[in-house]
Amino acid sequence: MARESANCCTCCSSFITGTGLTILFLWLTLRTQHPKCFIQSFYFPSLNKTTNSHHNNTILFTLKLANQNKDKGVKYDHLRLTFNLFLDANTTRPLANSTLDSFYQGHGKTAEKFGSAEPHGSGVNRTVDGKVFFRVEIATRVKYKILFFYTKRHRLFGGANVEVNVSSGEKVDPKGIRLGNVPPRLGSEAAPVRGWLIAFSRFFVSLLFFIAFT
Ligand SMILES: *[C@@H]1O[C@H](CO)[C@@H](O)[C@H](O)[C@H]1NC(C)=O
Ligand SMILES: *[C@@H]1O[C@H](CO)[C@@H](O)[C@H](O)[C@H]1NC(C)=O
Ligand SMILES: *[C@@H]1O[C@H](CO)[C@@H](O)[C@H](O)[C@H]1NC(C)=O
Ligand SMILES: *[C@@H]1O[C@H](CO)[C@@H](O)[C@H](O)[C@H]1NC(C)=O
Ligand SMILES: *[C@@H]1O[C@H](CO)[C@@H](O)[C@H](O)[C@H]1NC(C)=O
Ligand SMILES: *[C@@H]1O[C@H](CO)[C@@H](O)[C@H](O)[C@H]1NC(C)=O
Repeated sequence: MARESANCCTCCSSFITGTGLTILFLWLTLRTQHPKCFIQSFYFPSLNKTTNSHHNNTILFTLKLANQNKDKGVKYDHLRLTFNLFLDANTTRPLANSTLDSFYQGHGKTAEKFGSAEPHGSGVNRTVDGKVFFRVEIATRVKYKILFFYTKRHRLFGGANVEVNVSSGEKVDPKGIRLGNVPPRLGSEAAPVRGWLIAFSRFFVSLLFFIAFT
């Protein structure tokens, strides 16, 4: 009798361990990370003081996309970019849209896409405290390629506030600017902290899940 129940116990615990390992394996295989998007370069020629083409309102930009998944490809739908101008710290006015073609990106790859947008309307030279700020947003949908299969589509979006040099028309920060969860407000640091908290609590939940199954 005692031997039988010991057997049952071993059987039971190996079943639980097996199930736990299977779930862990599936979780590691199916887990995906969103690609990161950056405004790598931004040039607004009509602000360039050393050129006469002030009537040229075109916005020229480079978008950088980084697939963080080491073993999964990413298929992007059309990438829709919107450009707004800050009128004051809390208000923006739509300027232009730009759409980049759908494309596939391999494991762990980084891509740079060059694009342009044609603003409509006047008053593009509006400043906030003597500085020119643009609100840049991206929206698309992505699906991940795991071995030979595609996952369902996921929404991907983000935005950033980009300061442009009033006399050269170039982005002030020479580094790429992450299109993340920064709110369309100037001088606010609240949201990145919130995003960080969400990331942390997700990590904590994953950890609990981990402990419960191993
Ligand atoms: C501004 O215009 C001048 C003259 O066309 C050009 O040489 C310069 O490269 C432009 N500045 C930028 C940042 O492109
Ligand atoms: C504005 O300038 C850009 C690059 O300097 C050029 O590609 C574009 O055709 C120009 N647009 C107009 C309307 O002249
Ligand atoms: C922007 O909003 C913040 C808080 O909502 C407020 O304190 C500030 O005065 C507003 N600024 C402008 C220029 O409207
Ligand atoms: C940008 O696109 C949206 C919808 O896709 C449209 O409502 C809006 O008018 C467009 N803005 C400009 C400046 O073309
Ligand atoms: C913006 O352009 C208008 C004319 O279109 C001009 O009167 C004004 O001085 C410009 N503002 C800045 C900040 O360059
Ligand atoms: C803007 O560009 C001019 C000329 O390229 C430079 O002298 C100035 O320091 C820049 N200003 C800022 C705030 O980066």
